[in-house]
Amino acid sequence: MTRQQRRLSRIRNFLDLERAGKRHLPRPLHGYVANAAEDGKSLAANRAAFDDYSFLPRALTDVSRISLETELLGKRYAAPFGIAPMGISALSAYRGDLVMARAAAQAGVPMIMSGSSLIPMEEVARIEGADWFQAYLPGDRPGIEALIARIQRAGFRNLVITVDYAVPPNPDNNRRSGFSSPIRPSVRLALDGLVKPRWLYETFYKTLRHHGIPHFENNHATRGIPVISRHVNRDFSGRTHLDWDYLAMVRERWPGNLIVKGILHPEDARRAKAQGVDAIIVSNHGGRQLDGTIAPLRILPEVIDAVGDFPVMIDSGFRRGTDVLKALALGARFVFFGRPFNYAAAYAGEAGVSHAIRLMQDEITRDMALLGITEIRQMDMSRMRTARE
Ligand SMILES: Cc1cc2nc3c(=O)[nH]c(=O)nc-3n(C[C@H](O)[C@H](O)[C@H](O)COP(=O)(O)O)c2cc1C
Repeated sequence: MTRQQRRLSRIRNFLDLERAGKRHLPRPLHGYVANAAEDGKSLAANRAAFDDYSFLPRALTDVSRISLETELLGKRYAAPFGIAPMGISALSAYRGDLVMARAAAQAGVPMIMSGSSLIPMEEVARIEGADWFQAYLPGDRPGIEALIARIQRAGFRNLVITVDYAVPPNPDNNRRSGFSSPIRPSVRLALDGLVKPRWLYETFYKTLRHHGIPHFENNHATRGIPVISRHVNRDFSGRTHLDWDYLAMVRERWPGNLIVKGILHPEDARRAKAQGVDAIIVSNHGGRQLDGTIAPLRILPEVIDAVGDFPVMIDSGFRRGTDVLKALALGARFVFFGRPFNYAAAYAGEAGVSHAIRLMQDEITRDMALLGITEIRQMDMSRMRTARE
């Protein structure tokens, strides 16, 4: 067994990944990835929501051949889950976005590249099968047009617009862990890095040596500010006026699949559909934006009622195969995971992400066998009850 295999064999599920991420990443970076808004009420609600439902398995069905294959927006994927967009992933793992995109493409699942990333989108788009990009809309129409044109030129097929970020969230918790964006150099920061030598060499040193100080590459049509800087330079200001008219403008200009991420209210879901969007992702941003929001899983049935036969995906708080199956039973077409894949990339690069994908595929396959189903589309409410029943 190689050293890498030995390290990976210690990771048996997504909860192990959280522990590995904490051990591997410097305090401010782990603080940023793990962060939840304010008192962590949204974060806790996301996990608690899964307890609202209990499975009702069927016995003695032939489960010798199980398929996780799922069709989504005109493409077949190997499993009903993918990797959610995460900003500055290239600070958690060396070439983080590329690592996640390659492992996902190899496994036949989608990875959504974040617009707040440190590697030019064109490099990720060159990977065969990497065709999802997430953008935060710039505050002005020419800026939006130029960004959409760049995303199209790069060759992405699916454009995700995140709409739960009118303003940056409360920075208190990040400040406490020593994280800011851009990161300000300090003695404390240097010490935090020094006590994580593997990260310091494998990610930080190699990045600086081969690529220089990373910049925000993809928030706009042109290169943005460096991620490490003494000056606080707000890349996220001037967006508070964005409304549905701007989404209409994106729809007019973007010829591929348009997906809106960060919807919770059923009326917003209905409105997105009416504006010609191709799919939505019900999400509270992993509990990182407004504290005390409803868990996406809890509002999912109302959202599906509002939009009918329309692709509704979901993220926030998913950690188990059983979590995925509960969302599918309620009518979600697809599930995305955030933090666990960030930790997987941080802990063991591409091999770590591939390992995590396999773990989740194995979990879902095992759970399906125990439920008595062999195909994803069989997962419906006949296999579940609300926990009170
Ligand atoms: C470190 C980190 C960075 C994120 N950056 C983005 C981003 O750039 N764009 C976006 O739409 N969502 C972003 N998110 C939210 C995720 O896409 C996703 O909604 C959330 O992580 C799902 O919750 P989970 O981490 O509990 O699985 C980020 C999440 C994390 C943890």
